[in-house]
Amino acid sequence: MITIKSLNLQIATLVGTFVFGFSCQTKTIDYENIAIAITNEAKTNLVQKLTTAIAEGGTKQAIPFCKMNAIGFTNQLGKKHGVELRRITNKPRNPSNAFKSEEKDIFLEIEKLKTTEGVFPKKTVTSDAFVTVYIPIPVGGLCIQCHGEPIQDIKKETLAVLEKEYPGDLAKGYRLGDLRGLFSVKFPK
Ligand code: HEC
Repeated sequence: MITIKSLNLQIATLVGTFVFGFSCQTKTIDYENIAIAITNEAKTNLVQKLTTAIAEGGTKQAIPFCKMNAIGFTNQLGKKHGVELRRITNKPRNPSNAFKSEEKDIFLEIEKLKTTEGVFPKKTVTSDAFVTVYIPIPVGGLCIQCHGEPIQDIKKETLAVLEKEYPGDLAKGYRLGDLRGLFSVKFPK
């Protein structure tokens, strides 16, 4: 015998299954927030390593340290999260960080969209096989001693090391708040 109570329960279960099942099926992955978490981890780690290297041997000794570790660390962190993680820029110090194909246009678009508060937007690009989230890397106070104006911001001895390690270096002359580059976080779909 079907009582009103059990009928109500059956209807509730049916509705619940439908709503739950439906919401599960259409659940979208929040690529942007995952990318933010990954790049925050990268930033925190890179800045920590950099600060330690500077404290131990000064700016000029931190440069060979960056050369040996920055790309390897970024690659590994990406792998750990199942994405391809890169730092890309229009003015590379390490030529491996130069743009590929459409990345230049994305950089210029993000650079142009700087708000009056000095904030650069993020951008997500979706293709058949990948979702790529681009996250801006602005220039902060710590960066100027290696990416600022020669002599004025970058000490002579630091310049000498830069010239030796990176003969084609383009990553100088930045000011606070400039767009230094982008994190590219590429997710397989
Ligand atoms: C001790 C000097 C030093 C400081 C300080 C420094 N950098 Fe760099 N930066 C480097 C070196 C050296 C490289 C090249 C690393 C490599 O070979 O992978 C580099 C590379 C980069 C790259 C990758 C693109 C490229 O040009 O190759 C970005 C982005 C970047 N730095 C941003 C920053 C930001 C943002 C800060 C401040 C938070 C900062 N850097 C502080 C020395 C420094």
